[in-house]
Amino acid sequence: MQSRTCLITGANSGIGRISALELAKKGFDIIMLCRNAEKARPVRQEIKKVSKSGRVDLIWCDLSSQQSVVQAAREIIDRYDRLDVLLNNAGLYIHKEQYSLDGIELTFATNHLGPFLLTNLLLDLLRKGDRPRVVTVSSEAHRFSSGFKLDELAKPRSYNGWKAYGASKLCNILFAKELAERTMGEGITSNSLHPGAVKTNFGADISSLMGLAFRLMQPFFISPEKGAETSIYLASSPEVEKVTGLYFDKSRPKTPNQEAQSSYNAKALWALSEKLTELNNRLVSV
Ligand SMILES: NC(=O)c1ccc[n+]([C@@H]2O[C@H](COP(=O)([O-])OP(=O)(O)OC[C@H]3O[C@@H](n4cnc5c(N)ncnc54)[C@H](OP(=O)(O)O)[C@@H]3O)[C@@H](O)[C@H]2O)c1
Repeated sequence: MQSRTCLITGANSGIGRISALELAKKGFDIIMLCRNAEKARPVRQEIKKVSKSGRVDLIWCDLSSQQSVVQAAREIIDRYDRLDVLLNNAGLYIHKEQYSLDGIELTFATNHLGPFLLTNLLLDLLRKGDRPRVVTVSSEAHRFSSGFKLDELAKPRSYNGWKAYGASKLCNILFAKELAERTMGEGITSNSLHPGAVKTNFGADISSLMGLAFRLMQPFFISPEKGAETSIYLASSPEVEKVTGLYFDKSRPKTPNQEAQSSYNAKALWALSEKLTELNNRLVSV
């Protein structure tokens, strides 16, 4: 039987690394999509050692750069004739306002626009997959995004790291919901999740009082092994083979905040993301 292929973004660290190790043990071929080859190479070897199929590929991609995402998608399309699972895991918190090469606020560019573009460019490969699934790692931090303003995502009027992170994680839930709607009937499922408060490299950029509090709380956070459980469940369990459009916590559906439940927000975000990534032109070029 042909093994199934799972692409994991940010597979070199934290929750993504454990997800890759566990899915490789379950027999998946793994594509690691990472921005830092130095960090990713040793992890690739580690995954190869436990992999049932022995196939662990590494693709370089900086998700904050649209050109880099297009290049990575081209490479994947060249190397693979189908994709079964796309695990949009990579994400980060940025304390000080920064902008991507495309001139877009860096948290939003990395945590939402990169995965949005990558997923859309790989949809045809997913359509050829076996029980294809898109899983997007969001966060309970989406609840920090109250007063979410679509027109300020790409260029906020005043920057606050937690608000920007919360808004990007709200975008993850809205994106997963709208993707589920759009792929309904094609057999592709799309769900998002909160992994828990997990002891990883996440938050290395958190400074200020909030950062101190975050670091003091870290000993009480769960392990990356525990934190990866919901990602692995959504990526591989037959129980959720046909479940789509939901947000999960501890491998169970959970109701996200009001803004994340709004179909109006989901559609408006999709339209904005299409415009900011010039999706229609990109689709023609890959
Ligand atoms: N840890 C928590 O408590 C927690 C809670 C809720 C949600 N989450 C979410 O869980 C996901 C995984 O985070 P983690 O906790 O495992 O943190 P982590 O250990 O810092 O891993 C994050 C991964 O994302 C990658 N990444 C960041 N920016 C990227 C870019 N521009 N292009 C490509 N890859 C990029 C990182 O690459 P480098 O190693 O090269 O930096 C790393 O591989 C994130 O989406 C995060 O928002 C985490």
